[in-house]
Amino acid sequence: MKFFNTAGPVNPADHYYVPHRFNEPEIRQLIAQKKYFILHAPRQSGKTTGLLQLVKMFNGEGQYKALYVNFEPAQSARSKVIEGMSTILKALKIAIFNTFGAEDAGYQFLIKDEHTQRITGNSLNEFFSYWAQNSTKPIILFIDEIDSLVGDTLISVLRQLRAGYADRPTNFPQSLCLIGVRDVRDYRIYSDEQQAIVLGGSAFNIKAKSLTLPAFTPTQVKELYKQHTDETGQKFTDEAIDYAFEQTQGQPWLVNALAYEACFEMVTDHSQTITKEILEQAKETLIKRQDT
Ligand SMILES: Nc1ncnc2c1ncn2[C@@H]1O[C@H](COP(=O)(O)OP(=O)(O)OP(=O)(O)O)[C@@H](O)[C@H]1O
Ligand SMILES: [Mg+2]
Repeated sequence: MKFFNTAGPVNPADHYYVPHRFNEPEIRQLIAQKKYFILHAPRQSGKTTGLLQLVKMFNGEGQYKALYVNFEPAQSARSKVIEGMSTILKALKIAIFNTFGAEDAGYQFLIKDEHTQRITGNSLNEFFSYWAQNSTKPIILFIDEIDSLVGDTLISVLRQLRAGYADRPTNFPQSLCLIGVRDVRDYRIYSDEQQAIVLGGSAFNIKAKSLTLPAFTPTQVKELYKQHTDETGQKFTDEAIDYAFEQTQGQPWLVNALAYEACFEMVTDHSQTITKEILEQAKETLIKRQDT
């Protein structure tokens, strides 16, 4: 039975799910035009959920090789660039294996000791060049949690991507999207090496566009809650749905958390309708628990 997910990305097979939150025609156009772009939106707004579905869609269509990868593991390297590159290459190795299997040329490259033991500050660039050259399809990359990287590691990643940009699509990924909480142009990155602040806009001055992800609309909240009604028979009064939107302002995690509390903790007898009063109580419980 499906439910309202409140822990990590939504999986449409297991959870109630609002589809197509991105402007897909716009993203298709950016990719077709070989652009490098940014997607930034607040925490818990559905970035990862949406991207995972986009990547699935592109790989299903077969024109591109689309990879989702999360760079967050390299946060702990702080400003140590070599350590950061090593962690990023490991994350890529796992992501490529999970998406394309062991036959993939990029995976084969990354499991060779000679490529993972002599890492330099340019290893990421070299890997992407090799991978693009040895892929039959143009590569499109979705790099999540880019702004979890710190200092010289972040600067290094941005500069290595910028350096390869001119060689796309045969010798570098055709298109890439950096995903984070802030726009790259607003990064102020402290470089230990240069003992100075580097601005994101200058380290990554190839950005074509910044996209963002708006909160759920009232209609989307209604459609999400209706999935629960269809699945279980449990109804929401119109007043309850209006209240949910008003209290959450469509913030995706809150919309789910409020309904989960009401429907799966408080009123588990699904023959009972969810009223505004029940959601008011659910809200109090969430506040007391200080969930985020
Ligand atoms: N398409 C969706 N349909 C329904 N609920 C969603 C959807 N996208 C996100 N949510 C809600 O938002 C929560 C966070 O989703 P997700 O992890 O995708 O967001 P995020 O923006 O990547 O978060 P973070 O910034 O913490 O990485 C989910 O647990 C779910 O409650
Ligand atoms: Mg995320």
